[in-house]
Amino acid sequence: TRVAVIFGGVSVEHEVSVISALQAIQNMDESKYEITPVYIAKDRVWYTGDNLLDIENYKDLKKLFQEAQKMSMQRTTDGRVIINKEPRPRFGKAEIAEIDVAFPVIHGTFGEDGVLQGYLELLNLPYVGCDVMSSGSGMDKVQMKRIYRDAGLPVLDFVTFYSTQWNEETSVWLERIESSIPYPVIVKPANLGSSVGISKAADREELEEAIDLAQRFAQKIVVEPMVQNMTEVNCSVVGDTEHVESSVCEQVLGTDEFLSYEDKYAGSSSKNGGASKGMESTNRIIPAEIGDKMTAEVKRLAEESFRTLGASGVSRIDFIIDNDQEKVYINEINTIPGSLSFYLWEPAGKSYRQLTDQLIQLALK
Ligand code: DAL
Ligand code: MG
Repeated sequence: TRVAVIFGGVSVEHEVSVISALQAIQNMDESKYEITPVYIAKDRVWYTGDNLLDIENYKDLKKLFQEAQKMSMQRTTDGRVIINKEPRPRFGKAEIAEIDVAFPVIHGTFGEDGVLQGYLELLNLPYVGCDVMSSGSGMDKVQMKRIYRDAGLPVLDFVTFYSTQWNEETSVWLERIESSIPYPVIVKPANLGSSVGISKAADREELEEAIDLAQRFAQKIVVEPMVQNMTEVNCSVVGDTEHVESSVCEQVLGTDEFLSYEDKYAGSSSKNGGASKGMESTNRIIPAEIGDKMTAEVKRLAEESFRTLGASGVSRIDFIIDNDQEKVYINEINTIPGSLSFYLWEPAGKSYRQLTDQLIQLALK
C-alpha cells in the first residue's frame, strides 16, 4: 500500500507538524507500507523526496529549498544551465496518481480544519482521519462548543464575536462579556491550536489587551471563564462512526497558567536538545491521578465527543476538571493531535506502529 504522509502546511503549527510527521513516518510498518513524504512549504508549494525525511534539513528551511532548487537545474544541449522556476521534486498530479491513501499530519489551519480533507475528497483519494465536516467543526472552538452543548455534553460558557464587531461596538461587547463571565477570563482565537494567541485577563484592561492579541491571529474570538482550581486531563480516541476506543488519560502539569506555545514546544524542545523531542517534553502524568470514577467519566466523554462530531482516525480530547465543583468540561478536540497521541496508547499495549497501521486500515475500510 502506498501512503503519502502530508505535513508542514501554512498554519502557525508548521514546525510541530514536521515533528509529528517525521515521528509518525519512523513508526510505520515498512514491510506493509511504501511511504512517500509530502511536505507543504509555507508558500504552499508541495514537495516530495528523501531529503524531507531528515529533521536536520528543517532547521534551515532555506537550505532545504536550495537543495530542491539544485535538483531542478537542467542543462540544454549547448551546455547552458536553466533553473526551473519552481524547485523540484514537486508533488503534483502525476505523483498523486501513484498514491493509495493520504495520511494528513498537519495541525491547524488548512490541514486539520477540513480544507486539505476537501481537496483529498476532490481527488478521490482515501485519507486518514476526520472528514471535511468533522475536521471543520472540531477546529472551530465555537462551532465545537455549540455542537457539544446541543448534544448535552459539558462545555464552559462562552461569548464569541468577530473582530469587526469588537472594533465597531467595543463597549457593547465588553458589557456582554462582563455581565456573563466573571473575571478572570480566557481569550482565544476561535480556530487555532497549540495555545497560539491565547491569554488570560483579570480585569477590563487586560481583557482589551487579550482581545487585541487574539485578533492578530483570527477574525473570530471566544471568551471563556478561567477555571481557578483546575486539573487538565487529555484522553485520546481511535475509531470511526462504527467503533471507538479510548486511551489512558494524561494529566498535564503546571497549569495554574495554561501552557503557552513556547511552554509546549519552543522552550521544552530546546531544553531537551532537539526539536524532535518537542511533543514528548511537556510535563505530564500518565495515567492521570484523578481516581477511577473521574477517569471513567473522562473516557466516556472522550468517546462521546468523538462520536458526536462524527470523527474518525485518532483524536485527542482535552478536558478541564473544576476541582472545586468536581465537574469536568470538554475543552477541545484535536482531530490531528500532536504526535498523534501515540504515547497515550503505548501504556495500554498499542505500539505507535500498531496505531499508524490501524489508522491506515480505517482509512481504507
Ligand atoms: N494542536 C496540537 C498539535 C495539539 O493540540 O496536539
Ligand atoms: Mg489543541
